[in-house]
Amino acid sequence: MQKKRNKFDFYPTPMSIVNELVHRLNWPKHSPIWEPCSGDGRMVEALRKDGHTVYGTDIQNGQDFFDTVQPIASSIVTNPPFYRIREFIDHALGTLGVERLAIVCPERLWACGKGLDQFQKFEPIRFVNLAWREDYLGRGGAPDRALAISIWNMSKKQPCRFEVWDRTDQSTFFEQAA
Ligand SMILES: C[S@@+](CC[C@H](N)C(=O)[O-])C[C@H]1O[C@@H](n2cnc3c(N)ncnc32)[C@H](O)[C@@H]1O
Repeated sequence: MQKKRNKFDFYPTPMSIVNELVHRLNWPKHSPIWEPCSGDGRMVEALRKDGHTVYGTDIQNGQDFFDTVQPIASSIVTNPPFYRIREFIDHALGTLGVERLAIVCPERLWACGKGLDQFQKFEPIRFVNLAWREDYLGRGGAPDRALAISIWNMSKKQPCRFEVWDRTDQSTFFEQAA
């Protein structure tokens, strides 16, 4: 039987993933970042430590991302609620029109019909598989699925680059096959 998910899909991102994401983001420090599903604030804190100006909001503090009509910043970094992840991408890139977006996501985000449609509409600039798994749902035992990361820069028109990251700086890097 499927276990009930936490209210608002509150599953803090494992710090190993937060740290790699912040470390490898390579976004300009002068452009502020919005973390719109900030949970316990761990991404906000890690990005600030890396020198970014960051604004954190969350539905648990009264700000529903889907009610937002003006983005707080033109760059977003978050781990959104997965049960609304497609809506999240549409709202961020379509309705709000942010320039940069980076999200933690399921590793099979693009591997279905809806995924293909959305990939064709909003092709990310980078898609990242992670070479390790975390028990981010807190169910115990060996995790049966891995997380991934999708990154967009809507001001750059170039094909998505596929990457595989390890937990350290020594990443294995594969260019997407032509
Ligand atoms: C998977 S958790 C991730 C939390 C945090 N971003 C992190 O990386 O640890 C998803 C977060 O989304 C928030 N959330 C869910 N629905 C939301 C909504 N409609 N608007 C804003 N935040 C929402 C939850 O409260 C929760 O903190």
